[in-house]
Amino acid sequence: MNETILYSLGGLLALAVAVLVALKPTRKPTLTALVWVAMLVRRAWWWLVFRVTWKGLARESGLSKRRTKRVKRAGVGEESIEKWRDPRLKRVKTSAHSVTLKVRTRRGQALADLEAFAPKLAATYQADSYRVYPAKRRPGSTVMFELVMRDLITKPATAVMPEPRMQTETVLLGRRQNGKPFHLQIEQRHTLVVGASGAGKGSFLWGIVGSLSPAISVDAVRAFGIDLKGGMELMMGAPLFTEIAAKADHAVAMLRQLVTIADERTEALQGISRNHKPGPGDPLYLLVIDELASLTAYADPEIKKEAERLLKRLLSIGRAVGVVVCAFVQDPRKEVIDMRGLFTQTIALRVRSAMETNMVLGDGMATQAAAHRILKAAQGTAWIIDEDGSTDRIRADYWPDELIRRLASLYPATPDLVTIPDAVDASGMPLSLTDGGAR
Ligand SMILES: Nc1ncnc2c1ncn2[C@@H]1O[C@H](COP(=O)(O)OP(=O)(O)OP(=O)(O)O)[C@@H](O)[C@H]1O
Ligand SMILES: [Mg+2]
Repeated sequence: MNETILYSLGGLLALAVAVLVALKPTRKPTLTALVWVAMLVRRAWWWLVFRVTWKGLARESGLSKRRTKRVKRAGVGEESIEKWRDPRLKRVKTSAHSVTLKVRTRRGQALADLEAFAPKLAATYQADSYRVYPAKRRPGSTVMFELVMRDLITKPATAVMPEPRMQTETVLLGRRQNGKPFHLQIEQRHTLVVGASGAGKGSFLWGIVGSLSPAISVDAVRAFGIDLKGGMELMMGAPLFTEIAAKADHAVAMLRQLVTIADERTEALQGISRNHKPGPGDPLYLLVIDELASLTAYADPEIKKEAERLLKRLLSIGRAVGVVVCAFVQDPRKEVIDMRGLFTQTIALRVRSAMETNMVLGDGMATQAAAHRILKAAQGTAWIIDEDGSTDRIRADYWPDELIRRLASLYPATPDLVTIPDAVDASGMPLSLTDGGAR
């Protein structure tokens, strides 16, 4: 009720100010003041619309239940009256661009019924996007719907130089759909990024490696790369990598080396710590695989088998001992993502069908996190599943070649660790580390 009074008063006040400003401007109103008033009016309007129409919508969409009761009335006789049980709209919170509804299930209703209602809710109120997540209090019966009424991530953003400090835990990759920064956890996580060709996987790849570059230069992170497309993608920032494998047999050797490191660390950490904390000289090993399919699906059967075995082992033992994998893949077919369950976080950029969204994010996720609906022109946009199981739409910043080259020359991996990769350019000529523009 307090909320009702507050918002109604807010709305009335905003309207009054708007009318005053429009009718009798004593002073020329600044543009900012007008925008501010318009925003306030819009928020009050949204609040009113959701409050007033909620029950009607719930009843029309089959979320409410109707009961008919027969009652006896003196002088009239028996009469039937209709009673509705609606899911309760507990709170409506508005911001400049979104509306968040807190809704509690009605008696006899499953939480899944409410969650499945999200697409209808978003379409009814013409929201650009939505997400559903459990409420902090009573998550078993209460759900939050965030409707994005004005999409804040339609415009691409370009990445900037990372702060020159050593960070290994998380990296800043871009923005969430509510405009807040999106950080991706790196330590203790194996990450799988799936997206059709041209979906913008490169933004995630360079977002991760580029943001870790200050840590790479002090040997708190050692990046290893597998790029069987001739090394073309990773060679752009080659000096940031300790080693790049552009051929399948080299990739297998690299996997074997990393499994050995993980095994040795497991032994060394036994009884001392359950989680490795990276620092200069005791680095986090980061294995970046661009186009995982070229290693696990299309390569020579012998190599494929060995690569799969080593990668699965690395995925099962590496996380806690500071050997993590970030893999990128275009096609989420079963044989490619046979090991999906071993990745601890998955990111779905634009994929081709609802079935693929379910393959990447998990069964039934296509309605809550419609990665197959991401537009072609919205490169770098993806759906993620947060720690609490809720979904969110994000957009990674774009990393221009120039920025990657600058970072590579500013923060190269410790030079004596770097080995010359066996990468070749389009004409078959070997590429050298200096092609990244570093040394
Ligand atoms: N975050 C972004 N914002 C805006 N545009 C982007 C973004 N990321 C990528 N692009 C644009 O999309 C193009 C394709 O991106 P990218 O090469 O990263 O795709 P990809 O998913 O790696 O494709 P492939 O699987 O074919 O390698 C880029 O050349 C760039 O023009
Ligand atoms: Mg790519």
